Amino acid sequence: MHYTAVATTLLVALFAQGSIAQDPAMATSTLTTVCQQAAKIPVCDLYSTSCKANSTAAACNPVSLALSACADPVAATNSACTMFKSMCTGACANQGAVKDLLPARNASQQVFSICTEMPTMTDCQGDARCPAPDATGVSDCKSWTVYSALCREMPDMTQCASWKSFCSSNGQVAPFCGGAAPTTNSSTGGHNHGTSGNTQGTTTGAKSSATTVLTGAVGMAASGLLAMMLML
Ligand SMILES: *[C@@H]1O[C@H](CO)[C@@H](O)[C@H](O)[C@H]1NC(C)=O
Ligand SMILES: *[C@@H]1O[C@H](CO)[C@@H](O)[C@H](O)[C@H]1NC(C)=O
Ligand SMILES: *[C@@H]1O[C@H](CO)[C@@H](O)[C@H](O)[C@H]1NC(C)=O
Repeated sequence: MHYTAVATTLLVALFAQGSIAQDPAMATSTLTTVCQQAAKIPVCDLYSTSCKANSTAAACNPVSLALSACADPVAATNSACTMFKSMCTGACANQGAVKDLLPARNASQQVFSICTEMPTMTDCQGDARCPAPDATGVSDCKSWTVYSALCREMPDMTQCASWKSFCSSNGQVAPFCGGAAPTTNSSTGGHNHGTSGNTQGTTTGAKSSATTVLTGAVGMAASGLLAMMLML
């Protein structure tokens, strides 16, 4: 959207490039937005299953999670990613994506390959199973969760080489590499993005909120501003 582009340009000009994107809250805003729109990418499984409950896990650096989300070809053109990548340069970009996490198409393909070879495995059946990849190459399922479950059961299948790399690079993060998922503790809430409503306003509403964002830009906290802009 035009106003988003204008706002992005202003933001980049307002803040030292790179520094704003290192704010974990901005990375988390980006990730949250991308995972609403492209929920099937592997990093969204990792984020929702492990990182929300245990943000100290090695694989859960917010900037690395956001970089992973935006590196997945399935999400690369997402407007939140366009904005994030324009700001996450230099030291921010150097933090790197989560190591050895597969993109959505690759994870879907690995599950499909394993389940073609070993169709009787429990995780190739049932409601959570992955159907064959669709025309876009992505299976309609939590492919990273299913892939990891299959590889936990049959770690020496050739298709599990990427899983082994992921696990050794990321401190054997639970539950993907072993162990039980960390439990969410309601008393340790994450960053609050304010209203999570569906602000699909009319054009007038969108312009009005863009103007509000621009007017208030200088004085607002960076993460709150970004969260608002991402909803435009
Ligand atoms: C959270 O992650 C840290 C670092 O990897 C690990 O030592 C700890 O056991 C994890 N906690 C839970 C509840 O999984
Ligand atoms: C993902 O799949 C594509 C196409 O098969 C391949 O070129 C690429 O190397 C794969 N990426 C990873 C990380 O395995
Ligand atoms: C939740 O947090 C409280 C207070 O830190 C702690 O006593 C409790 O054990 C935690 N519960 C879980 C399931 O982690």
